Amino acid sequence: MNRLGGTTAAVTGAAHGIGAGMARALAAEGAALALCDVDPAVHALAAELEGEGARVLAVEADVSVAADVRRFVDAAVARFGRIDAMVANAGVWRATSPLDPWDKALDDFEALVAVNLRGVFLCGRAVAPHMAEMGGGHIVSVATDHIHPPPGYSTGGGTRMDVYDATKWGINGFTQAWARVLAPHGVRVNALCMDATDSNMIRGALGQEPPPELLERWMRPEQIGGLLVDLLCEGPEGRTGENIGIWLGHEVALPPWREPLPSRFT
Ligand SMILES: NC(=O)c1ccc[n+]([C@@H]2O[C@H](COP(=O)([O-])OP(=O)(O)OC[C@H]3O[C@@H](n4cnc5c(N)ncnc54)[C@H](O)[C@@H]3O)[C@@H](O)[C@H]2O)c1
Repeated sequence: MNRLGGTTAAVTGAAHGIGAGMARALAAEGAALALCDVDPAVHALAAELEGEGARVLAVEADVSVAADVRRFVDAAVARFGRIDAMVANAGVWRATSPLDPWDKALDDFEALVAVNLRGVFLCGRAVAPHMAEMGGGHIVSVATDHIHPPPGYSTGGGTRMDVYDATKWGINGFTQAWARVLAPHGVRVNALCMDATDSNMIRGALGQEPPPELLERWMRPEQIGGLLVDLLCEGPEGRTGENIGIWLGHEVALPPWREPLPSRFT
């Protein structure tokens, strides 16, 4: 299929896991791709997708470093002339607790905020003026079901997640404000809040090889990639300012569009 032909999508943290699944799904729909990762393995994925006919730019870049994000975005615009979608997917996880030793607490906080929050900030801000000038685009961040759980469950990811969850809550500040400011420019801003999806991150957090019954339940990166494609294909009239919940035991599909609530502020 070619639902995204003629568009360019940028994906951060694309070398592995959910980002790689997104890249594959976007390429399968004809999007040109700008991929970045701190891991040089991003070049192998680019070569694989180019072998299948995709147009791909791969850049080694750290999303927490402003100069790297600028270099990535500028290179993508130079190569393809436009960025229609920025998917701020790169993220890291560490086990944290309010009872951690002080030095560990500071180190974990800086590391998680740098990638998960500052990275989203830099990627979104780097493309927003470009998209506004083009008159349209998408910024899609990757949060977590911890901030948007299935109906009937409280928020929060458990006892080892205080800093990780705080960074993902922080993304919501960008999602809500950017959606409102950029709507008149045709730019939609949403966040994917997915449940457990098979990747190095979740396997690392589990700390052991997942038993088959758990693997069976986890979502797969390609499914999240397919959902991302559907989100982009909603077009300029599609949802914006939404935290999109994707939960185990539920269909991996976009939830029905819902009218955004009015803001109390201009
Ligand atoms: N796997 C899950 O169950 C799950 C659930 C909810 C949300 N998430 C989120 O999904 C996103 C992708 O995670 P994943 O599960 O695929 O993890 P992953 O560890 O498999 O992949 C993350 C990718 O990001 C890259 N990366 C890390 N730091 C980077 C940086 N500073 N700059 C550029 N790239 C960097 C890594 O090299 C890796 O390729 C993350 O934001 C994560 O928080 C994951």
